[in-house]
Amino acid sequence: MTKLTSIRTIAALAFAGSIALGGAVTADENAELVINGELALVTKTAAPDHLKDSLDEIYSGWVYRETDTQAMQMDDFDNPGMVFVDLGMDAWNKVEGTENKSCASCHNDPAESMKGVRATYPKWNEAAGELRTVEGQVNHCRTKNMGAEPYKYVSGDMANMVAMIAVQSRGMPVNVAIDGPVKAAWEQGKEIYYTRTGVLDLSCASCHEQNYGNYIRADHLSQGQINGFPAYRLKDARLHQVQDRFWGCIRDVRGEPYDRGSPEFTALELYVASRGNGLSVEGASVRN
Ligand code: HEC
Ligand code: HEC
Repeated sequence: MTKLTSIRTIAALAFAGSIALGGAVTADENAELVINGELALVTKTAAPDHLKDSLDEIYSGWVYRETDTQAMQMDDFDNPGMVFVDLGMDAWNKVEGTENKSCASCHNDPAESMKGVRATYPKWNEAAGELRTVEGQVNHCRTKNMGAEPYKYVSGDMANMVAMIAVQSRGMPVNVAIDGPVKAAWEQGKEIYYTRTGVLDLSCASCHEQNYGNYIRADHLSQGQINGFPAYRLKDARLHQVQDRFWGCIRDVRGEPYDRGSPEFTALELYVASRGNGLSVEGASVRN
């Protein structure tokens, strides 16, 4: 980062709120994330090769949360997101649509059939010739395989289902493909990530690559990874899907967000997912 860019970024951040560089550390950045006393998750690891020029290490957003928030995610009884995972499981077994089928009719036990899905999506679907998020695949199955109405892309029903699917990959390393047929989308996502936008003229990188570890207002900035999604947010007591989070971050810099479920946000999701290749899938995580 050039000195000029750095000064410009800090000035914009100062305008956005206030940034305390190297501010007081309230989180224990060396804490280990172990779920239910038995499943150890990777929250920091070496950056994937494609990031080597900009980052040495990658960190889960969990690392930057306060100790109380970190603790909630370490026990499924204390993790408020798990209630929604249960609701997702109910929906999995519910017969809907003209085909008289539930998800379970075709996929049986999600612990087997959905294992690895969250870790590898967004993913190229060969038959359709398109890049699909987990949400996109869920709606494809609802409409084409069940004859049911699609869920609204960002909605409680969708969040419950993707949370239930994410839990089946908990502990597996994020491992999205970035070449082959998805290369063009990945490049597009990368471009969006580094493009400055909004009244504050900030890119995702301004905050999440150049300033992680610093404070912006009361917020401890993370690298903006998505290995923890969907994430239960304490601020409004609900699950947030990946693209809903992107939408919120762009709105916060007073930019013009893409639609949730759009090709642009799906490209960005692939790119951001690839920045976390190697971190454990955590969903449903707990964040503030
Ligand atoms: C009639 C059978 C059928 C039903 C019902 C069905 N699916 Fe599917 N599903 C499939 C088939 C076939 C595939 C793989 C082919 C494809 O990509 O479309 C698939 C693929 C998937 C995948 C991707 C798996 C992977 O390894 O990439 C997910 C996720 C999924 N389904 C979720 C659901 C959910 C959630 C429901 C209920 C809302 C559901 N499916 C209902 C047939 C079904
Ligand atoms: C003005 C600074 C700023 C910009 C620009 C910004 N974000 Fe954020 N973002 C935040 C803050 C603050 C949080 C909450 C604390 C944290 O987790 O970093 C956050 C959180 C996130 C999270 C949640 C991480 C987690 O583990 O819960 C993701 C994902 C994210 N941002 C992605 C993005 C993407 C993608 C962009 C670009 C489209 C972007 N952000 C732009 C400030 C920003």
